[in-house]
Amino acid sequence: MTQIVSSEFPMTRMRRNRQADWVRRVTRETVLTKGDLVWALIVHDGETPRIPVEAMPGVDRLNLDEAVKAAERAKALGIPALALFPHIDPSKKDAEGSEALNPDGFVPQVIRAIKRAVPDIGIMCDVALDPFTTHGHDGVLNAKDQIDNDETIKRLVEQSLVQAKAGVDVVAPSDMMDGRIAAIRKALESHGCTNTMIMSYSAKYASAFYGPYREAVGSGELLKGDKKTYQMDYGNTDEALRETALDIQEGADMVMVKPGLPYLDIVYRVSSTFNVPTLVFQISGEYAQIKLAAQAGWLDEDKAILETLSAFKRAGADGIVTYFAEQAAELLS
Ligand code: PBG
Repeated sequence: MTQIVSSEFPMTRMRRNRQADWVRRVTRETVLTKGDLVWALIVHDGETPRIPVEAMPGVDRLNLDEAVKAAERAKALGIPALALFPHIDPSKKDAEGSEALNPDGFVPQVIRAIKRAVPDIGIMCDVALDPFTTHGHDGVLNAKDQIDNDETIKRLVEQSLVQAKAGVDVVAPSDMMDGRIAAIRKALESHGCTNTMIMSYSAKYASAFYGPYREAVGSGELLKGDKKTYQMDYGNTDEALRETALDIQEGADMVMVKPGLPYLDIVYRVSSTFNVPTLVFQISGEYAQIKLAAQAGWLDEDKAILETLSAFKRAGADGIVTYFAEQAAELLS
């Protein structure tokens, strides 16, 4: 085998494939499409059409009518699905998060209204008690003020059934209780909700980046302590893989890694270890970081959105839940 060796010029010029837009496009390995996007929406049970979320400039809490309009907008833009997060009136909150189990509550109302107006858009809904509890935790507390795993599961099962019967396509338990996927799957099957998908928030870390979300749904100032006894420690990877394996075994149709950008290694490990659709959540704190830096004129918002969303795909995500979905879909149109 002859090899041409020259000390005068590099044989391999990596820049050749970067010299023009057309060749960069043709050789690109990962491509972001509108089909990758799930639009995270904050919905509220009041009259006011839109209430700005201070910590998330550009994101409003939407009332029922505005939520339906957003679904129509998503459909027109080619966004496949929505993920709903409720802000409910504080008077409806209690220590058990009972309102989460109300079949005529606000969340089932929104699900029904969107399904009526835009039947073929996907709806995912968070399953957890935090928007509904007076203490801001995802579950119920025992006498020692600890999150009671098994009591919480009973409620999450009810909450999932309420959502499923209202027509949600995907129930998305974000609570990190042990064994909840199996319990929810069993209940869905025994109630004839055989097509209801479960997207498990499998690798969900106790993160500082949830701050703006907690303001958005009104759980922030209520939260007693932290969520470290159920959300994962950010030093761990093996634990994420064990959590994900269990959720798949228990019947999850899709799994999720959350937060997103600081956890790209986890997205990569989860998506390359399991042959199960893997979603990632570009969460509220990630949104706020980009938004505020852009508002200050320190980075180009549109470019930062496309770059971060593409990074998720490169790491192996099959779909991305993001508050930027509308803007991203416009940029991709
Ligand atoms: C908890 C829940 C969280 C988010 C959605 N559901 C995290 C938390 O408050 O602990 C975060 C979403 C975001 O930050 O955008 N059930």
